[in-house]
Amino acid sequence: MIFAIETSCDETSTSIIDLKGKILSHIVKKQPVHKDYGGVVPELASRAHLEILQNIIPKTYKEAGIKISSTKAFCATCGPGLIGGLIIGSTIAKSMAIASKKPFYPINHLEGHALSVQINHKINFPYLLLLITGGHTQIYIVKNVNNYILLGSTIDDSVGEAFDKVAKMLGMPYPGGKHIEKKALLGEDIFKLPRPLINSKDLNFSFSGLKTATKIEIDKLIKINKKNINNICTSFQKAVIDILLSKTQMSIDYSIRKKLNINNVVTAGGVAANKAINKSLSVLCKKNNLELLSPPIDLCGDNAAMIGWACLQRYNLGLKGNINFKPRSRWNLEELK
Ligand code: KG4
Ligand code: ZN
Repeated sequence: MIFAIETSCDETSTSIIDLKGKILSHIVKKQPVHKDYGGVVPELASRAHLEILQNIIPKTYKEAGIKISSTKAFCATCGPGLIGGLIIGSTIAKSMAIASKKPFYPINHLEGHALSVQINHKINFPYLLLLITGGHTQIYIVKNVNNYILLGSTIDDSVGEAFDKVAKMLGMPYPGGKHIEKKALLGEDIFKLPRPLINSKDLNFSFSGLKTATKIEIDKLIKINKKNINNICTSFQKAVIDILLSKTQMSIDYSIRKKLNINNVVTAGGVAANKAINKSLSVLCKKNNLELLSPPIDLCGDNAAMIGWACLQRYNLGLKGNINFKPRSRWNLEELK
């Protein structure tokens, strides 16, 4: 059994999975304390992680029906993320590991997202990964566990951040991605919004200009009514989809040119829960004779099951734990190996 903690942002989560990868228990607690601030307040997040973990760790073991002493390995997200939360989660998991005389594995949060698709799909390496979260927008070739090539990244905001900021402009609660998705279904794409970097030859993204352009359109409105809000959401989401489609196609072309033999395209991260994005990407993949795969919707956002899964892959490969690992707020996947 592997015990996992995820505390990199504002979800406090614990999970126990067995050595075959079956999830025996999984708890994800959102932190309501940030709602009034329109974003995550790091100090409040740290305090909430500590309080919630004390409460959910015994429940996680009870739900799995096992004793702490039968845990083979302990792991926690050690980066990237908010340093206070990372220190709390990793220190608790390390303490449990020391008390149980078992190894501790520091897990990269992005590796958790990158491998989470394997929880519900049999998928072969290598695959193309579109990692779309609240903190990151990146394209990787996933060659294997512990082996990633970064093809492109955002040069400013992440796509999730753009969703959240536009949602805030429209008076929606944080995190706003799912609210924009809902309203976008009801509107029309009538606002002319830019698609930054869509014609650049590299595989990088930029969402800051799109966010500002959306704000300018909102400020120009004489009346903010339901219809306008829906139309802004549809136009904004359409611009995001166009950008993601264009960069995904360019990445597929690149991997063909470089003979990387990718088997699938995978979306992961909180924004991968967006059905409109996934539907459009799925059509694009079909045109390229590739299948688009995603983790189950409840494992798209931050969760400890994906951290436990990433730990299990390392454990099964015979990779060693590291109790001395210091949590890092920045930690790119290419730095693994
Ligand atoms: O992966 P995640 O849970 O946390 C990070 O590692 O950042 O991603 C959170 C992000 C937030 O920005 C949230 O608004 C966005 O994912 N998100 C969505 C949807 N559900 C969550 N964005 C667009 N459409 C959704 N349905
Ligand atoms: Zn995440």
